[in-house]
Amino acid sequence: MFKDQQTVNLFPCPVWLFDIEPDSVEIINRNAMAAIEQMRPPQKEGQPIHPWQSRNDLQTLPEFEELSNVIKSTTGEVLKQRGIKDYPFQITGCWINIRTPGNDHPAHTHPNNYVSGCYYVNTPEGGNAIVFRDPKMETNIIAPPLLREDEENSRTIMVPLQSGMMAMFPSWLPHFVPPNQSNIERISIAFNIMFSSFGETIGKPLWTFDENP
Ligand SMILES: [Fe+2]
Repeated sequence: MFKDQQTVNLFPCPVWLFDIEPDSVEIINRNAMAAIEQMRPPQKEGQPIHPWQSRNDLQTLPEFEELSNVIKSTTGEVLKQRGIKDYPFQITGCWINIRTPGNDHPAHTHPNNYVSGCYYVNTPEGGNAIVFRDPKMETNIIAPPLLREDEENSRTIMVPLQSGMMAMFPSWLPHFVPPNQSNIERISIAFNIMFSSFGETIGKPLWTFDENP
C-alpha cells in the first residue's frame, strides 16, 4: 500500500559512555578511596550505615587531578560530537556519592550546567545501573501496551555500568539510581560542566542592534 518508508529520528537524546584507560582508573580509584577514608565521618557503633555525599568541589583538590584531566578529555569529545565551537568550559562541581545497600537516588537533573556525568569507582552486581527518563513528558500521557520495549518506545532506559566507566549526558536529562540490591557500597563521582564566562560570551544577544534600520 506504500511504495517506500523512512523513519527520521529528530532531536536525539544522547548519553555518552566512556571506558577509561586502566592506568587512569587505577590512580583515580586509589585516590578516591583514600579521600573517602579521610573525609567520610566515622560510623557510629550500632547505627545503620548511611549513604554519603562528599564536598562538591573535588575538582579543586590535587588528589582529583587525574579525574579532572579525564573529565576534561571526555568533555572535549562530547563537545566535538555535538559540533560545538571551541568554547572554554569548566568543571563547576564534583562530588563522591556512596549508595549503601538498599539505598537509591531519586530522579533529578543537574540545573545550570550544560553537560553532566558520573565516573564509576565501584558498581557491584545489583548496584550497577543508571536509569534515564524520557524528558518529553507529553509522551507519557498515552501509554498503550507494547509488543516490545526498546530505546524508541520506552519512557525509561536502564544503562548497565561497570567500574572504570564514565557516563555523560545533557544536564537537563532526568535520571535516577535504582536501589542498590547488592550488599556492597556503590561508589561513584558525579560532576557538572558549564561554559566558562557564559554571560560574557555565549549569553550575549544573538542579534546585532541596527542604529539605522
Ligand atoms: Fe545525577
